[in-house]
Amino acid sequence: MEWGMKNRISKIIRPEDGRCVMLAVDHGYFLGPTEKLENPGRTIKPLLPYADSLMLTRGVLRTSINPSTDVPIVLRVSGGSSIIGEDLSNESITTSIEDAMKLNASCVALSIFVGSKYEHQTLTSLAKLVDEAERFGMPVLAVTAVGKEMTRDHRYLALACRIAAELGAHIIKTYYCDNFQNVVEGCPVPVIIAGGKKLPNEIDALQLAYDAVDHGATGVDMGRNIWQSDHPVAMIKAIRAIIHKNLNVEEAHEIFIKEKELEHQKVLKPT
Ligand code: 5RP
Repeated sequence: MEWGMKNRISKIIRPEDGRCVMLAVDHGYFLGPTEKLENPGRTIKPLLPYADSLMLTRGVLRTSINPSTDVPIVLRVSGGSSIIGEDLSNESITTSIEDAMKLNASCVALSIFVGSKYEHQTLTSLAKLVDEAERFGMPVLAVTAVGKEMTRDHRYLALACRIAAELGAHIIKTYYCDNFQNVVEGCPVPVIIAGGKKLPNEIDALQLAYDAVDHGATGVDMGRNIWQSDHPVAMIKAIRAIIHKNLNVEEAHEIFIKEKELEHQKVLKPT
């Protein structure tokens, strides 16, 4: 592997511990102004110091993120469908590798829809993106998107992750599931997990992150369970503690409670 590729991957997966906390804020690319991400800049700013990397589209990057930031960028380069459109899986490459380079991205991300009507299109887009990105030493994150009609079990997710790795993806984002170790074992590149829809209780999201790394995930690419929380900074700090400090769920929850109290005190006594 070339130096540039290795260097970029080391910005996404921290070399100190081989783990990763990616903050996902790309939801608007098919969901529009998602709840609590209506003003992306405002949502993202307080979370940036605690994110190892930030996953977003070029539109939000250009308009809402200060270019002096040193947070590594994972640029979503696929899209072309919407939540109200005919078929969510009908995605193509939407951003060129040249633009990703101009934006100083550390990684590019694309969704694949294995088992969907547009399976072939999204898989060949992944292969094409890998060919183009590798010319520039740019890693590719494949997102195993799951249509409504598909079960998120280990057989399906292992199939999707393995196909993405075989086509050359350098990192895969998927969902946590029962027997998750089978997904990781069958995938020769690092696997990270999405958080999915906001869970009713923060402890469930902490448990999800804990179970994922405990079963072999390299980390998380989490969005809604962080920024839709009433205490997003407390939440990302607690998630970080699980991923990078190997804290258990109870210990991480204590961090969450402590941070929440600190926030409360700041509101009562602004500096
Ligand atoms: C959407 C995505 C999101 O980035 C991903 O789902 C992670 O966010 P969340 O934790 O909110 O699920 O890739 O296709």
